[in-house]
Amino acid sequence: MSLTNHLDPALETLLDQARQVAHNSYSPYSGFKVGAALRLTDGAIVTGTNVENVSYGLTLCAERSALVRAVAEFGPDMRIAAVAVANLNNAASPPCGACRQMLAEFVLPDAPVAFPAASGVCIMPFSEVLPLAFEMKLK
Ligand code: THU
Repeated sequence: MSLTNHLDPALETLLDQARQVAHNSYSPYSGFKVGAALRLTDGAIVTGTNVENVSYGLTLCAERSALVRAVAEFGPDMRIAAVAVANLNNAASPPCGACRQMLAEFVLPDAPVAFPAASGVCIMPFSEVLPLAFEMKLK
């Protein structure tokens, strides 16, 4: 895990895109505006934001919103080379467990994941963000 103020420019750009899309957040219940940006292995960028619902449990996080958009736009063989998460609330927001498990299906193990930590931005390889993803190997 690395806490840093000096980011690789490509990751800084991805974080900016995550911040930008957070302005589109639909979050009238929590007021927590989250944005996520994924860089795919072919260089394409796909963004998403959280979309809440009056039936609270139906809320979709920014990371999963970006993920489903990436599959819809680029198909099931797309792979994620980098992940950036931002929020407009000046708060820490690592990807939640559900988002980690969903990302695991498509992300490269050494893809950097950048997210707001208590102080500054934290960058970790995905394999450290979710070391033991569920997998199903039938015998
Ligand atoms: N949220 C995300 O967008 N990503 C996460 O990984 C965790 C939480 C959103 C869901 C909800 O709209 C708000 O943050 C407060 O939980």
